[in-house]
Amino acid sequence: MTNLLELDNVNAFYGSAHILHDLSLNVRAGEQVALIGRNGVGKTTVVNTILGLAQMKGGHIRMGGKEITQPRPYVAAQHGMAVVPQGRRIVANLTVEENLLLGAATGRKGPWNVSEIYKLFPILQERAHTPGTALSGGQQQMLAVGRALMANPDLILLDEPTEGLAPVIVDQLAGTFQRVADQGTSVLLIEQNLSLVVRVAHRYLAMAKGNVVAQGPVLNSPEGLKDIEQHILV
Ligand SMILES: Nc1ncnc2c1ncn2[C@@H]1O[C@H](COP(=O)(O)OP(=O)(O)OP(=O)(O)O)[C@@H](O)[C@H]1O
Ligand SMILES: [Mg+2]
Repeated sequence: MTNLLELDNVNAFYGSAHILHDLSLNVRAGEQVALIGRNGVGKTTVVNTILGLAQMKGGHIRMGGKEITQPRPYVAAQHGMAVVPQGRRIVANLTVEENLLLGAATGRKGPWNVSEIYKLFPILQERAHTPGTALSGGQQQMLAVGRALMANPDLILLDEPTEGLAPVIVDQLAGTFQRVADQGTSVLLIEQNLSLVVRVAHRYLAMAKGNVVAQGPVLNSPEGLKDIEQHILV
């Protein structure tokens, strides 16, 4: 299977702070992978490095098999990646609909458009013309997911998409992620909620101190949950 995304011995920094140490991982076409690990191990920095927001010094990033020498948000987007960032980052002075349309900037074709996102999350249609940041936390997360889907990505990177949300919203989002996966979209799910991980992912990568220290299959069962639990216990 083709590697959509490959990090090969990547070292990444914020200024002089060395965060990722010879980190390697890959996500293949149609694959759902979870990236787990305790607070502060560098999960978000993986996303930031892919987007060029953390500085890569040494190592390689490949997207669709092509070496990316200067990662940038638009480069990732052009290679079919869409990100749901930790903390959602809804644009405050844009409406819900305008936030959604931002996601379509690359013009990639596929199943997702504004009316499909409204079918998925009807509340977003009801609130289409209100400022994005006027929504509740759960609604803002739906908007962040909708905005990423608008890019019709081959790979969606989800950075703690259920952090701080009520169980009923988490359940709805889990259903959405399963549906996206069923369409053949690859998923890299960063998540501490392991019951979500076992519903969505088939393989896990566990991080500690800026590196991937364990990996294996994810089984959607109590045993599968127990297998991966040790990697995020604090
Ligand atoms: N902009 C920054 N400048 C300097 N250090 C940073 C910056 N952002 C994060 N760090 C540090 O980098 C390390 C990894 O942070 P990162 O946000 O990648 O962790 P994480 O695994 O995503 O954690 P969490 O689960 O809390 O989101 C931490 O020690 C953090 O303090
Ligand atoms: Mg993080």
